[in-house]
Amino acid sequence: MSELTDEIQRRRTFAIISHPDAGKTTLTEKLLLFGGAIHIAGAVKSNKIKKTATSDWMDIERQRGISVATSVMAFDYGDYKINILDTPGHQDFAEDTYRTLTAVDSVIIVVDVAKGVEQQTRRLMEVCRMRSTPVIIFVNKLDREGRDPFEILDELESELKIGVRPLSWPINIGAKFKGVYNIYENGIDLFTPNKQRVSERVEIDDINDPRIDRAVGETDAAKLRDDLELIEGVYPEFDVEEYLAGRMAPVFFGSALNTFGVKELLDCFVKIAPSPRPVAAEERTINPDENTFSGFVFKIHANMDPNHRSCIAFVKICSGKFERNANYKHVRSGKMMRFAAPTAFMAQKKSIVDEAFPGDIVGIPDTGNFKIGDTLTSGEDMQFKGLPSFSPEMFKYIENTDPMKSKQLEKGIQQLMDEGVAQLFVNQFNGRKLIGTVGQLQFEVIQYRLLHEYGAQCRWEPISLYKACWVESDDAEALAQFKKRKHQYMALDREGRDVFLADSNYVLQMAQADFPKIRFHFTSEF
Ligand code: G4P
Repeated sequence: MSELTDEIQRRRTFAIISHPDAGKTTLTEKLLLFGGAIHIAGAVKSNKIKKTATSDWMDIERQRGISVATSVMAFDYGDYKINILDTPGHQDFAEDTYRTLTAVDSVIIVVDVAKGVEQQTRRLMEVCRMRSTPVIIFVNKLDREGRDPFEILDELESELKIGVRPLSWPINIGAKFKGVYNIYENGIDLFTPNKQRVSERVEIDDINDPRIDRAVGETDAAKLRDDLELIEGVYPEFDVEEYLAGRMAPVFFGSALNTFGVKELLDCFVKIAPSPRPVAAEERTINPDENTFSGFVFKIHANMDPNHRSCIAFVKICSGKFERNANYKHVRSGKMMRFAAPTAFMAQKKSIVDEAFPGDIVGIPDTGNFKIGDTLTSGEDMQFKGLPSFSPEMFKYIENTDPMKSKQLEKGIQQLMDEGVAQLFVNQFNGRKLIGTVGQLQFEVIQYRLLHEYGAQCRWEPISLYKACWVESDDAEALAQFKKRKHQYMALDREGRDVFLADSNYVLQMAQADFPKIRFHFTSEF
């Protein structure tokens, strides 16, 4: 095998997603412990936004600033190289999470056993489903009282709209929790509440092995046998192909805080999770083992130092070998560029790298050349398919309050939009600029950064809108008709595409009914 294929096959690039508080940070930290990337629990300064009483966004931004180093956490585990991409827990930054999901090859979803599937998990799963991303589910907090595991499985299946297959099974729950039966490897892991140590393993031959009775007692052993019989009867065999196709999610049970069930999850994960997969560009599909380098920018992290308008662009490598100081083409501008100080994020430390491989993320210091979704190649003119923008849910008109600084304002808005902080639309009826976001915080972030980084002042003017959606049609006449009828509600996005601004769900539904030839899209990727 060549060096390149060898490096590709040992890489596992994934994200952990959950509703806030389900245990994502704790699980991440335990995975890093197993990888030897950290040595004590509590060492992860994650992207987790600490709950502050006032939800002061400056605090949040400061915490995000610190978290650049934990945006990607890479470590070796056995023969594998693991890249965990962190996603912000705060829902106002959901757009960041959506984009990060375009740079991973698989996902682990953490669900709280007491709470089941929560809203943010549902939304993030929609993104995974759009891209057929393989998912593994970790049901967490088994040391606490929670719901019946069969009920949880039903909920996962119906709410996340994916087939499920337990690969481990809990023996009791809460105060009586005794451990899990590892269906994947036929063993019982006994639970000893302990924050640092790995559980004790009882090897067994099969489910009738009397060692089970000795380990957990006859009553629980009998219940376990009944449960497993039911599982075998109800759920299909685990099929790795179905998992890789994003149709079946293996489910593990455990307690991240107690480091319980985490190693089992990790060991199964490295075996079944995909290595970097082919990525679709507009022109063709790019295979990771192609010799020439390619990659795309999925995230831009602004520096909090207002004196230097520098950022870090996060590039996911899709094919070939990335080398420091090599000449690469920035396809959108057609310019050749060299990167003297690309960084990798090994074991939570940022350090300059000389080379990186598909699946890896490199951070490139940038002063405004990059835009979310930009493609870099060894020379080929091709563009990776756009990262999706989702219909924003909050809108405000942005107004200039310092006429002397309109250029600065213009530039600031352009750059913040390039970074993907929010989306800009121009209302075609009144020519006014409209900013759309997924969370209230972004408006504060934008106003603050425009002032401190660009010296521009703006003010927000409310507008009541329900949703902005992209519209198109094969019938030019029908589209023209629609635009004429809705001329007060038509806008253009930054790429010049038509966007319909619906002020209520009712109006949107009526428009859909009245104009059957028009397609309404709720993400920009169509
Ligand atoms: P998040 O990143 O998904 O938001 O969740 P995080 O890991 O921060 O976990 C949320 C809370 O749940 C934390 O408690 C954490 O200690 C707890 N937790 C995580 N896994 C388990 C588990 O297996 N069992 C139990 N009982 N609790 C668990 P906290 O009090 O909010 O924070 P902290 O003060 O402990 O950090």
